[in-house]
Amino acid sequence: MFKRIIFLLIVIAIIIVGVFLVRGSEDRWLCEDGQWVKHGEPSTPAPTTGCGDEITEPEGDVVITSPMPNEIVSETIIIEGKAKGTWFFEATMPVDLLTSDGSEIVQGFVEATSDWMTEEYVPFKGELKFVLPEGVEKGILVFKTANAAGLPQFDDSFEVPVRFSEDAPMSYSLDELALHNTEQDCWLVLGDKVYDVTKFISSHPGGKAILEGCGKDATELFETRPMGSGAPHSENARKISEDYIIGDLIKVE
Ligand code: HEM
Repeated sequence: MFKRIIFLLIVIAIIIVGVFLVRGSEDRWLCEDGQWVKHGEPSTPAPTTGCGDEITEPEGDVVITSPMPNEIVSETIIIEGKAKGTWFFEATMPVDLLTSDGSEIVQGFVEATSDWMTEEYVPFKGELKFVLPEGVEKGILVFKTANAAGLPQFDDSFEVPVRFSEDAPMSYSLDELALHNTEQDCWLVLGDKVYDVTKFISSHPGGKAILEGCGKDATELFETRPMGSGAPHSENARKISEDYIIGDLIKVE
């Protein structure tokens, strides 16, 4: 009889914890189409800022400026924002990409771009490359505290919903472009197109001069060649460049 009561108590405890966990993950504010929308019964009030051009973790610890909630992503997600230094360890913070039903697609991390040993905000950047899962339309980007000690009280996470599309036009901002500014990884803008010229550098007739354009809008350099003839590139050069187009430049008003 006594054993039965203990067994019953354990079952009831498991059910209570289960219900709490399921409800707990539902109870949050999500930024949808530029507005904070209640999911479940969050205990905190709606965040007052950050829905539209950035999204803020309810306690304000993490602010994401890219990607925006429900942004369409394919192949590469450029991640940018700022987070309290306590979310980092060795200047990195883990980021996972999951399908909307919680299966893992890829694990990665973002890197702090200034001193992370602070309790203040630290800006971060990163890229997450993934293979588009077949038939999956929605995903979740999960930012997690880099809890090096593994102590549950330091565990925290923040989710940003994204949508997948194979046909998503590849568009890049000047900020994204700036991440590709080396001889080993050189993107540049000519007009309104983005080019990955990394593989062309070694055969560029103007030699390493092209490196001056890496990571930026090189239209003026391309048209004026101040380090060379001072003349615009030839028609032939324009034709060659077409092989290296990877997408459009996102114009900022
Ligand atoms: C997709 C990008 C580019 C392509 C396909 C390209 C192609 C070429 C070609 C074919 C030439 C031989 C001359 C001509 O036909 O005009 C050339 C020369 C040259 N290019 Fe480029 N180029 C590119 C970007 C750049 C950039 C961004 C710079 C500068 C930052 C640059 C600087 C030069 C220079 C200095 C020369 C040597 C000729 C001179 O002194 O004027 N190029 N390039």
